[in-house]
Amino acid sequence: MLRSKTGMIFLSGVISVCSFVFLLPGLSMGAKYISNSGCKCHMSKGCYEGDEYKERLHSNTWEKRLKGTPDEGNPECLKCHATAYGENIKKGAEKASDGKKFLPNVQCEACHGAGEDYEKVKKNYEGKGKDAFKELLKKDPLMARKVQFDAGLIIAGINTPDTVKEQCLVCHWESADAKEKCPKTDKLMDFEDYFKKDDHRDEDEIDNVIKKMSDADKKKWSAILPKDKILYRPLKKKH
Ligand code: HEC
Ligand code: HEC
Ligand code: HEC
Repeated sequence: MLRSKTGMIFLSGVISVCSFVFLLPGLSMGAKYISNSGCKCHMSKGCYEGDEYKERLHSNTWEKRLKGTPDEGNPECLKCHATAYGENIKKGAEKASDGKKFLPNVQCEACHGAGEDYEKVKKNYEGKGKDAFKELLKKDPLMARKVQFDAGLIIAGINTPDTVKEQCLVCHWESADAKEKCPKTDKLMDFEDYFKKDDHRDEDEIDNVIKKMSDADKKKWSAILPKDKILYRPLKKKH
């Protein structure tokens, strides 16, 4: 899948260029997918992104459309209606088809990349225990964002893919003659409208720091700042 490949290239680039040497075709040496059930913080009650997500159709693309139909294990459908088909997935919430594992629905990791290393950073930053990341977030929010990205977190429009729209177009399409489309619907994506519906940014410490950055800091931290203009739109909701 395009997403996981770009995610892996990004990750291995970060770890070291040498890791490419050990990459065998079809063998993913990157972080494992951990599923939403691994996202204890974001999926807990009252968390904005988790609550937003549960309202969205993305959280039901397999349950509602494929489950119990002849297509529930069809790889052709799973590439858009499920997450990480055929990828390295941690034991637990996964299902299997043709001996390959997948996570049902369009989960967080379909867009944000495999979460194993990211989870480690959040739970035990530098091996310093469960509060270490929270302390870093208070002390140095920009560094906190950087270490999340270095651990493989993907946010389209900031690291990779370059624009949010590009990421959406992996599964959506804007014209009737697009190459990859869903065989079950003719609906086209209206990006502006879809972005508004799916936007789940909210204001946190990092956003507040970014707002007040000096030009010198903007340069220094350019790798972790939004490049896609759409991400400079006002946030929907405060924390
Ligand atoms: C290229 C990605 C892609 C593939 C491949 C794909 N789908 Fe979809 N599917 C979508 C998207 C995106 C939507 C929602 C479109 C929208 O609302 O704009 C959708 C919508 C649907 C719907 C709802 C249609 C409705 O009535 O609104 C069903 C049912 C469905 N897909 C089943 C399938 C099945 C079965 C397969 C495999 C044979 C499949 N899809 C393959 C992306 C895909
Ligand atoms: C369909 C792709 C997609 C899915 C699924 C998805 N995200 Fe996102 N996420 C994005 C994009 C793109 C952005 C940046 C703009 C936006 O909000 O749409 C983002 C932004 C975020 C942000 C805010 C980062 C910031 O700059 O403030 C958080 C936190 C987040 N996502 C967490 C999650 C969690 C947790 C889930 C699952 C419950 C999830 N996302 C599911 C694509 C996705
Ligand atoms: C991994 C594949 C995948 C990616 C990537 C993806 N989507 Fe989707 N999206 C789907 C599928 C499948 C559906 C169909 C849900 C259904 O009808 O069951 C859908 C449905 C939607 C809907 C609901 C349409 C409606 O009826 O209201 C919105 C909005 C949406 N996507 C926005 C986005 C945005 C914005 C992005 C990019 C940030 C994105 N999607 C990226 C697979 C994806």
